[in-house]
Amino acid sequence: MRELILVLDFGGQYKELIARTVRGLKVYSEIHPGYMKADKVKELSPIGIILTGGPKSVYLPDAPMCDPEIFRLGIPILGICYGMQLMCHMLGGEVNPCDKSEYGRVSAVLSRESVLFKEITENNTVLMSHSDYVSRLPKGFRGTATTSDCPYAACENPIDRLYGVQFHPEVELTDNGEKIISNFLYSVCKAKGDYNLDDYIDIQVRRIREEVGNQRVLLALSGGVDSSVCASLISKAIPGQLVCIFVDHGFMRQNEGDQIEKLFSKRRLNFIRINAQQRFLNKIKGVTDPERKRKLIGEEFVRVFEEEAKKLGDIRVLAQGTIYPDIIESGGNIGAVIKSHHNVGGLPSNLSFSKVIEPLAGLFKDEVRLLGKKLGLPRALVMRQPFPGPGLAIRIMGEVTHDKLEVLRRADHIMCEEIGRLRNKPHQYFAIYTGANSVGVKGDDRTYDGVIAIRAVTTSDFMTCKYTPLPHRVLEKISTRISNEIQSVSRVVYDITSKPPATVEWE
Ligand code: XMP
Repeated sequence: MRELILVLDFGGQYKELIARTVRGLKVYSEIHPGYMKADKVKELSPIGIILTGGPKSVYLPDAPMCDPEIFRLGIPILGICYGMQLMCHMLGGEVNPCDKSEYGRVSAVLSRESVLFKEITENNTVLMSHSDYVSRLPKGFRGTATTSDCPYAACENPIDRLYGVQFHPEVELTDNGEKIISNFLYSVCKAKGDYNLDDYIDIQVRRIREEVGNQRVLLALSGGVDSSVCASLISKAIPGQLVCIFVDHGFMRQNEGDQIEKLFSKRRLNFIRINAQQRFLNKIKGVTDPERKRKLIGEEFVRVFEEEAKKLGDIRVLAQGTIYPDIIESGGNIGAVIKSHHNVGGLPSNLSFSKVIEPLAGLFKDEVRLLGKKLGLPRALVMRQPFPGPGLAIRIMGEVTHDKLEVLRRADHIMCEEIGRLRNKPHQYFAIYTGANSVGVKGDDRTYDGVIAIRAVTTSDFMTCKYTPLPHRVLEKISTRISNEIQSVSRVVYDITSKPPATVEWE
């Protein structure tokens, strides 16, 4: 039987990062609700359990609890942040509000005695995010780390194999965080590390077959990495039952619609292209609010699918290439809504499909790319930079018109051509139609034309990003070409904001 690490969820925003880090360390992991009964846990027979963080205070009546029996199953447990507080609280320790909350990267002193910190330096920087702390440890526990404001930044009861860290080892901002999780997996849980992405394919193939049976499935194929990988995975599971519809909403990049059609018509897929450019433009005519734009485009998308599904003889199952960051940022967990990614928040509630399947929903972008390679998709496709569902419509500030789209398409094409020549490319790069006008001079004439912004970012998961410092000669070339080759552009500016505080897209 394959090894499993069970991640019990108490509402922490990093729960998928925990599961992904564990999977990256070659141990399969699944996230389940924090209240899972001990009997059920036993049935799954995990080699270890991780209790996630969460926004509540354990001492309040509405705080989510776990089944106390899980501490008596003899399965190693690692509690992270709220998870550590919960474990200590339920085993007889005490949790209180902090005198001084800790948020951000802080210095911690780690005990070399703890197996959790094996091969890690004593002084480490960790990410803290808490306003409660463990003030008294349960019997049998000892403290294994401190910070200047937190007496028990980590604790353990090695006899019962119960471990807790107040900080977040699952984020990149904690030095050696991955090593700490690896120590838990390999030194505490004695994992062998028998998981790789092939397993993910097998599991999903089985799930899709079970869920779908002999029904036909309609997939929204955008030609991007996510939906293309999704198409491959589903066609592996149920060949012949998948119909891929590519809706050209008119917000694609230069020649992109034709390229996608060419690429997918060649593959053994049932591929249909719908040209709905004017329909989408009419739908968002006069709309300037970004969230409304996103929602309208998302809704129109689904309407088009529904119509096509009916024409194809009533297809009731819709497949989507939604990946995990789409869900987090659309408020899919208890977090705030940053923006509605059009394949999640944009779905209307009166959807007429009876089922929606999203086989990539637990994965991050880099995992999806790996999966695509394993499924045999061409490298050029798998490594494509991401492109948002609403396309250029959310890169045009304010109302979208045919003319603005044409200008942005040309500017974006120049940007892509020039960056395409670089050996090291940023993870995402594009142009934005800012909607601002500025005074310029072309020939002997004064102009008052548009301002185009260019953006390039470096990131591993798109949850955060840094702007990419492009070489000045490249910036200059892009700026010169855009302002010379496009009559209605007077100026090019360079966006050097990271996320946070900005987001990748401007809308
Ligand atoms: P933001 O702007 O949220 O973007 O920082 C993070 C990543 O997601 C892409 N993005 C989208 N992808 N549908 C998508 O499929 C959307 O509505 C959408 N909005 C943003 C964005 O390009 C970046 O890679």
